[in-house]
Amino acid sequence: MEDLPRYLAIARQLEALLDSGELPPGSRLPPVRQLAAQHGVNTLTALAAYRHLEERQRVVARPRAGFFAALPGADAAGRAERPTPSVATLVDVESRMSNLIRLSESPIRQQLHMAEAHNSLYPALELSRRVQQTLARQPELIGAYLPAARQALLHQQISQLAAEWQLDIPQDRILFTGGITEAISLSLRLLTRPGDTVAVETPVYFGLLQTLQTLGLKALEIPCTPDAGLSLEALEFALRHGAPVKCLVTVTNFQNPTGALMPEDNKKRLLQLARRHGLPVIEDDVFGELYFSGAHPPPLKAWDRDGDVIYCSSFTKSFAPSFRLGWLSGGRRHADLARQRESSSLVSPALLLGVLSDMLASGDYARISQRIRQQLARQLDQLADAVLAAFPRDTHVRRPQGGMLLWVEGPEGLDSRQLLQAALTHSISFAPGLLFSAEPRFGHCLRLNFGQPWSAQLAEDIRLLGSLAQQQLQTS
Ligand SMILES: Cc1ncc(COP(=O)(O)O)c(C=O)c1O
Repeated sequence: MEDLPRYLAIARQLEALLDSGELPPGSRLPPVRQLAAQHGVNTLTALAAYRHLEERQRVVARPRAGFFAALPGADAAGRAERPTPSVATLVDVESRMSNLIRLSESPIRQQLHMAEAHNSLYPALELSRRVQQTLARQPELIGAYLPAARQALLHQQISQLAAEWQLDIPQDRILFTGGITEAISLSLRLLTRPGDTVAVETPVYFGLLQTLQTLGLKALEIPCTPDAGLSLEALEFALRHGAPVKCLVTVTNFQNPTGALMPEDNKKRLLQLARRHGLPVIEDDVFGELYFSGAHPPPLKAWDRDGDVIYCSSFTKSFAPSFRLGWLSGGRRHADLARQRESSSLVSPALLLGVLSDMLASGDYARISQRIRQQLARQLDQLADAVLAAFPRDTHVRRPQGGMLLWVEGPEGLDSRQLLQAALTHSISFAPGLLFSAEPRFGHCLRLNFGQPWSAQLAEDIRLLGSLAQQQLQTS
């Protein structure tokens, strides 16, 4: 990954917004002071970013009025040849992703790279007792299929749980899958053919990039910010002016990696936008149950009257990761998805479904997920405070309102891939920013997970990570 000076990193970010149309041609750009404040740099650095873009004919300076996005044509000859919005690219991330997964298999002491909470957050002993009890009481659950009456009960329970999230999910519109991973993969198989384009957030969960790659799909990356999530303006621009997009995959609650929670108003607007453009939406709500205050934020699906949204949920983060139990509700595509699933994993393990059902009935699920949420909220504060204390000046974090991921935007010139190499020699891992795009973006960012219980050792490791980042900046 390149070692970008800060002004260039800012210029690249602005350019992505210009490409995507979030900053439309002719629009006024933030004043230099504001840009500087947004990025936590001085005004000279912000000005250097604009001057760079001016040279590239992407922006024009107007005396006493500031900077404006260049119009395609005479005053932006170079710009005219550039595709607008940014081009969808075939995804090629396999080796990067596999390298990261390999980290989990190696004996790294402090593993902060995956979106997984520490095993101790999940009640292993309680679950093991439950599995035994459930199987002893209902030996028929050793069979492959959940008996019809149990299935009806479980679907009723899921429908009731979803009602607490403001979802109206009929009991015959629930399909269990192998985590959300299978739910998304089934949905993409149904909606696309190899070579098609899928809109995704950027930065985006690298597992999704890997799925797109496996299916031969192109990713059209739409900017996503920690504050508001997916940019609707950029999406609309892409839908209006770009090549056809077959569907959108979005994580509306506590996005991976930014932790963004899409405001309710945006969720409603996104749905209207999707409807206007006939765009099917795959909603990934894997982190929705890990909210830190109030309640599970209503997913986009809560306003979906026309069945445009394929809603995907999972118990892998909020209850028992190894059970691999996810589910989807496919809207008007539900029957097709159910058929498709028959040739995929066929059914989910009846025993685990039975345990889940028992724990939903007893209230144990509610208790366990509540405890996990409380612990994660505490750990977030501890980790974020430690990062801000240890990392170089100009490091930014925005504390998410849920989930287990902290997105750290590093300062000028930080190369998080190099930082990872240095950290690994101390047996500490994290996910470097460039994993979260099919393009070479976010090299100065990193993602940490705050699913690890706070300890003196973890505090020491964050201090070490911070000083490695400081050293890198001093020697670069
Ligand atoms: C955004 C996102 N979607 C899906 C998944 C995978 O979910 P599951 O374990 O339910 O397959 C993850 C895992 O980290 C994720 O971060």
